[in-house]
Amino acid sequence: MKTQLLRTPETPCYVIDEAALTCSLRSFATAMSELFPHSVAALSVKTNPLPHLLTRAREMGYLAEVVSADEYELALRCGFAKNRIVYNGPLKSRDTFLDAIEHGALVNLETFREVGWLASLDHRRVHPVGVRLNVNVSAISPDDQNHDEDMSRFGFSAESGELDAVLAAIGEMPHVRFERLHLHRNSRTRSRRFYERLLDYALGLMQARGITLRQIDVGGGFHSMLPAHPTHRQYAETLARVVTRYQPIDTLTLITEPGNAVVNTSFTFVTQVIDVKHHDGACFVTVDGSRIDVDPLFRRNDHTMRIVSSGGTAPVVERQIVGGCTCLEFDRLMELRHQPALRPGDRLALSHAGAYTLTLTPLFTRHWPAVYSYYNGQLTRVSNRY
Ligand SMILES: Cc1ncc(COP(=O)(O)O)c(C=O)c1O
Repeated sequence: MKTQLLRTPETPCYVIDEAALTCSLRSFATAMSELFPHSVAALSVKTNPLPHLLTRAREMGYLAEVVSADEYELALRCGFAKNRIVYNGPLKSRDTFLDAIEHGALVNLETFREVGWLASLDHRRVHPVGVRLNVNVSAISPDDQNHDEDMSRFGFSAESGELDAVLAAIGEMPHVRFERLHLHRNSRTRSRRFYERLLDYALGLMQARGITLRQIDVGGGFHSMLPAHPTHRQYAETLARVVTRYQPIDTLTLITEPGNAVVNTSFTFVTQVIDVKHHDGACFVTVDGSRIDVDPLFRRNDHTMRIVSSGGTAPVVERQIVGGCTCLEFDRLMELRHQPALRPGDRLALSHAGAYTLTLTPLFTRHWPAVYSYYNGQLTRVSNRY
């Protein structure tokens, strides 16, 4: 995107590079479908619920992956047919749960209350359902463990016997059929090794029970398209290699739920310097955006940043602390060393701002930043100020 264009939109804002978005959506879906004769990709709505984005993904053949009644309604409003929705998570409402299954959505059971709700489905038809498997990362792949977060509260545990209890309960219901296992689990590393062990663990459990799956949903958690990360193709090759150890690849439909992998790199966050102060041996630069807009959990340091100067030359200064617009003292975006002095009107463009930014940005002291779409040399606003 040309630097000149970053001077024009109202700040703070996100700018979606449509070419980059198309490229990553296509790259992911193509990688999976080239290795799996039957594969579907469902965009994780929680990663970025912008209707413009959901519509683009739908137009490119994606399903929507939702985890609450609200997200289910949003996907419907964005034009997804009910049978093009993957419905996960503990926050399903009873009504949307039954509605989704009755209309062919891919529903993965997460809670015992949902198992109870199955009795209310129309008994004259057989309804396929999925079940989420509980995965302890340390147990299946110690190299990928993340300590505190390794024990998951999601899914039904094979080790505790709850998975078998759910499968047995489904087996007792002639109008319900167990069709797929859902495996989503974010690992710290997002490594291919983790997906290999995850799939091996799940398919091994099924083999031990004499079950041949028709579908497997490996969830999301894949890296986005950045150098030094596995490519989408490499992830697909890993998944395919494991499946072929257990069953012919054309007997299984692969379902994926990418979020970060397909939306992260196409969003840039643009913010503008509004003031500069000098004290304590540093320049304190205040911008009209916040660290919350690009790093709501305050743990990222992998943004690449472009300075869009408002004009002229500026002296190089030793230390600049760039602070956000909120009244949080720790709202600091970055520290610059030996860079040209920032002045009011200069802009900062931070890349890779598409995943878990819009969703995790609270309404703290101000409304959300605007969103623009960049296509064919033009910027168009695709969100309203609220
Ligand atoms: C069930 C499920 N699927 C998919 C995703 C998407 O993960 P990511 O954005 O890392 O690809 C998540 C994220 O937490 C999830 O909980």
